[in-house]
Amino acid sequence: MENELDWGNLSFGYLPTDYNVRCHYRDGKWGEIEVSSSDTINIHIAATALHYGQEAFEGLKAFRGKDGKIRIFRLEENARRIRSSAIGIKMAPVPEELFREMTIKAVQLNERFVPPYGSGASLYIRPLEIGMTARVGVKPADEYLFLILVTPVGPYFKEGFRPTKICIMREFDRVAPRGTGRWKVGGNYAASLEAGERAHELGYSSVLYLDPREKKYLDECGPANFFAIKGNSYITPASDSILPSITNMSLQQLARDMGLTVEARHITVDELAGVDEAAACGTAAVASPVSEIDDLDTGEKYVVSKDGEPGPVTTALYNNLRAIQYGEVPDIHGWCTVLE
Ligand code: PLP
Ligand code: COI
Repeated sequence: MENELDWGNLSFGYLPTDYNVRCHYRDGKWGEIEVSSSDTINIHIAATALHYGQEAFEGLKAFRGKDGKIRIFRLEENARRIRSSAIGIKMAPVPEELFREMTIKAVQLNERFVPPYGSGASLYIRPLEIGMTARVGVKPADEYLFLILVTPVGPYFKEGFRPTKICIMREFDRVAPRGTGRWKVGGNYAASLEAGERAHELGYSSVLYLDPREKKYLDECGPANFFAIKGNSYITPASDSILPSITNMSLQQLARDMGLTVEARHITVDELAGVDEAAACGTAAVASPVSEIDDLDTGEKYVVSKDGEPGPVTTALYNNLRAIQYGEVPDIHGWCTVLE
């Protein structure tokens, strides 16, 4: 019950809410939206989602604003991205309008779980599409289930907006060249678990992956993109093996608004020696400052934050993004869907 939730101390975990919304794709078309209060589904033991990884998901957030209204951040971008992921693994793409309607419905039905303004928490929205057809041969399904669950969350890294250390580890790739890295599909996360757990055991919040072709350029940072501040520039890796982060796209715009130059380009590992600030960015991570990047293979340590504090530009970007999400400043880019 919401009265029992300690809004200011939520972690990034699953808490049950009242409803989820679902829609089935059968006979070549999407059906009616269904509302369920069960947090389980029925799935065939031979479904393609279970055997061959036909699964794609999204992550977006709803915020309770200063004016008490609920704002969903960049819903249209997530609608577009899950279509791209679905097409990438041969699933039926969810129409953008259906995604929008279901997202709004899932939030409205669970309105009492949208954390209060000022708690720093938000309602995490997790859309999921899975292949439902029973197959033994490796072939796409004919039937799909698209569902949206929501859950109130706090910060992804337990440190919150505090700098953490990350590491470079060449032993593992998250994705293959020309593989599924640009899509948000479950297999990428399965492939990251071993490296991620090792990094955690060594005291790092995540792994900074290198490009899987040459292991020369920075790619992304666990379940988040990576950016650094170098002089007056916001630099971020350009790569076809990373997820195009909607948070990164938004921070790039905010960086331009602040008068910074944005450089989306290859960034070599050596270049880390000259950066002033660094951070991981994503829906869950928001902008999580990085204090140090340790290259576990070469022994090199790139100390980004000498005083262990978040850098001024990262802090400003974080604050500007949060201000838009919580309705504290005008949404001049039109990023929020405001529920009336
Ligand atoms: N990269 C990966 C691998 C992710 O899982 C995420 C999280 O969604 C991101 C980047 C950040 O993307 P976004 O800002 O759209 O949440
Ligand atoms: C997100 O930031 O929304 C993610 O999906 C990251 C992770 C929790 C998988």
